Amino acid sequence: MIVLIILIFSILFWIIKYFWDHRRFYYLAYKIPTSSFDYSFSGIYKFFTADNKTMLNILNEILNNENEIVKIWLGHILLVVANNPDDIKTIFNAKQCYDKPSFVKVCAKIEKGSLFGYLEYWRSHRKVMNPFFGLQGLKALIPIFNDKSKIFIKNLEKMIDKEAFNIFHNMTALTLETILKVMEYDVDIQNQESKTRDVFIMNLDTSNCAMAFTNDIVQYVRNKTNNNEDEQHKSFIQAMVNPRNDFTDDEIKDEVHSIVLAGQDTSAIASSMTLLVLAVFKDVQQKVVDELYQVFGKTRDTPYIEFENVNELVYLEMVINEVMRLYPVVPFVVRQVDEEIVLGHKYTIPVKAAVVVPISRVHKNKKYWGDDAEEFNPERFSKENISKIHPYAFVPFAKGPRMCLGYRYAMMLMKIQLANFLMRYEVDTDLKLNELEFCCHVTMTVCQGYMIKVRNRKC
Ligand code: HEM
Repeated sequence: MIVLIILIFSILFWIIKYFWDHRRFYYLAYKIPTSSFDYSFSGIYKFFTADNKTMLNILNEILNNENEIVKIWLGHILLVVANNPDDIKTIFNAKQCYDKPSFVKVCAKIEKGSLFGYLEYWRSHRKVMNPFFGLQGLKALIPIFNDKSKIFIKNLEKMIDKEAFNIFHNMTALTLETILKVMEYDVDIQNQESKTRDVFIMNLDTSNCAMAFTNDIVQYVRNKTNNNEDEQHKSFIQAMVNPRNDFTDDEIKDEVHSIVLAGQDTSAIASSMTLLVLAVFKDVQQKVVDELYQVFGKTRDTPYIEFENVNELVYLEMVINEVMRLYPVVPFVVRQVDEEIVLGHKYTIPVKAAVVVPISRVHKNKKYWGDDAEEFNPERFSKENISKIHPYAFVPFAKGPRMCLGYRYAMMLMKIQLANFLMRYEVDTDLKLNELEFCCHVTMTVCQGYMIKVRNRKC
């Protein structure tokens, strides 16, 4: 009996101590408006056990509120959702919000040495990699982007005038082969039989296969690179193996793995979605092609696209942006608050709260995009029109110091592959955009697949 009483008092003591130690956290949290999401145990259970398909519905449920700042409890985790672009600007730029919450690192299986995760590695790793993803670094990748896109176009010949197929498989093979080549790892994925290819792509997620090839890459580059600390590096992987930059083997492997994962899926989704949308909006498809003819001449030959040409494809970029506005690849971003920060002019967000930027919602907010926010209209991204929109109302790659490392890389690759595709092929679909269902894990994809039909383009 005495033991039981001591146990109960101890538990009570620890509970009181916990709340006393965290009194400021709970006091500040209390002042933030609450969402209607069910944050009881059933709500949390629903959240953490949701399959990909239902995750998006739950997220919509969570994010569907009119308040510009709203809190959601997931057990003891405090999520604060910020819908206002001014607050989004604060979150993306404040050094208090550079880190990712622990539950995100665990759920997304983020490796310790990866740029995606831990702040202690992030700063130094990002510094080494930034130059290779800047304009000068990317210029060197143009031949790879062109060569890989040509293989992609050639392989589609067997699909001409056939039944609808899921272009996403071809896209992921292209983006994966490209990012591996950028890492100096030559592997023929696009020409493999689709089954072997899909197994290779899917196995990227399983650590055994991923580790086997990351080991290969690191070993290969180590052998090729002499250990001269002053050497000018041609690729970021060469820079990582340079002793001057002080990366351990495990950190290099984590980084290679995360760049491969980040670099293949995301741009494959955005390009596949762009083709699907163009298959529905034939007038927009024709306008894109008119621009391509203006830049490269009226021909069906796939052009070699120079760095300068990429900037000339203004309308194509407007289309890609509008697709990413309506169908953002990454529907939300989460950051951890490391020091108190004020959002919504009056709410102090406590340390250890997780702030959420609901990209998919901000991109369709009528207040910033007008009453037709749900409609596809690339003209929103004309120079004149976009200058009137809040810069933080469109954030497909996030913004600020921790924004997507590969945003220029992605845009350049997408423009080169889509330009090649559209000069050679016409695209059609039976899918209706309003009937699409979306699956959501970290990225948002079309559950039905990106089913398109291709025909030779007549010019
Ligand atoms: C359409 C294509 C892409 C989209 C929409 C996209 C989107 C994003 C977003 C929203 C983030 C920020 C996540 C956060 O703040 O929590 C991010 C981070 C990142 N992305 Fe991308 N991404 C794309 C393509 C790429 C490519 C091609 C690469 C590499 C080749 C890449 C590498 C990265 C890396 C390394 C980070 C982490 C950056 C850091 O924490 O400093 N991404 N991406």
